[in-house]
Amino acid sequence: RTFRDAPDAKLYLESELSFPIVVKASGLAAGKGVVIAQTKDEAIAAVDRMMAERVFGSSGDVVVIEEYLPGEEVSVHALTDGRSVLTLPLSQDHKRALDGDLGPNTGGMGAVSPGGPLDAEGIERVESSILVPTIHALARAKRPFRGVLYAGLMVGRAGAKVLEYNVRFGDPETQVILPRWNADLASVFRHVAEGRLDELGAEAFQWDSRVAVSVVLCAGGYPGAFKRGDPIRGLKEAERVPGVVIFGAGVEQRGGEVVTAGGRVLNVTGLGKSVEDARTRAYEAVAKIHFEAMQFRKDIGQKAGRAARSSG
Ligand code: GLY
Repeated sequence: RTFRDAPDAKLYLESELSFPIVVKASGLAAGKGVVIAQTKDEAIAAVDRMMAERVFGSSGDVVVIEEYLPGEEVSVHALTDGRSVLTLPLSQDHKRALDGDLGPNTGGMGAVSPGGPLDAEGIERVESSILVPTIHALARAKRPFRGVLYAGLMVGRAGAKVLEYNVRFGDPETQVILPRWNADLASVFRHVAEGRLDELGAEAFQWDSRVAVSVVLCAGGYPGAFKRGDPIRGLKEAERVPGVVIFGAGVEQRGGEVVTAGGRVLNVTGLGKSVEDARTRAYEAVAKIHFEAMQFRKDIGQKAGRAARSSG
């Protein structure tokens, strides 16, 4: 439910609800506008902070109170020409700043693909019960959509539920999806733009069988305040590690040097025959890179690797 004033929101919280529950500032709040309230008192305090104390300014003018969804998050990217969808392999972001999914939320500290809590049947269900109905609903609403549809899903006991939609590629998910896609991307995107997805040939469906793991290297302090302009060393050596691709993110060329220019500085993607192999390659390359106060997670892909081993 959505609320425009605190007394209504609190009245709702006093009704028969089960906890934990999620209280969200509807506007942008730099990733800090979501409170998972364990109790009614915590939820009421969150509403007060957002609506009465206005800690997020006008971003807290509207507050959303929603069901808490326990489970595992996964990103599903699909291309759509407005009529049909082409679902890409699953990927998983690692949103928290610290190992073990601890610390504050970030834009993404690393990703793995393929990987996630859905098997082929689960992906088909997402396609038929979430993605296709969304595309058709947009068309019916006279807002036909062609492009990338990226669903952030929570997969729990009740199946997959949508947390959010984006109409762009995910970052850092893209850095593990595109290096595995052996298609002519310009041709695929042209088919999307021209509404001809059904005419794509078999070559558009060729995927590298290797697993990709990408580690994000961040500036010290990120996701809080961080410094820019530090020289980055070791890029050439890191690129020479077999199966490694490096993507610049918050970087800049300054007088012949590559320097840091953002919170998330580089993405180091390793491709390997297993999650473990991909991880080893990515971290071998990471070890060759250096800039002042560089920080990164050491456990990217670890959970996916464990899941892959236990499923045989
Ligand atoms: N991976 C999170 C995002 O792109 O929004």
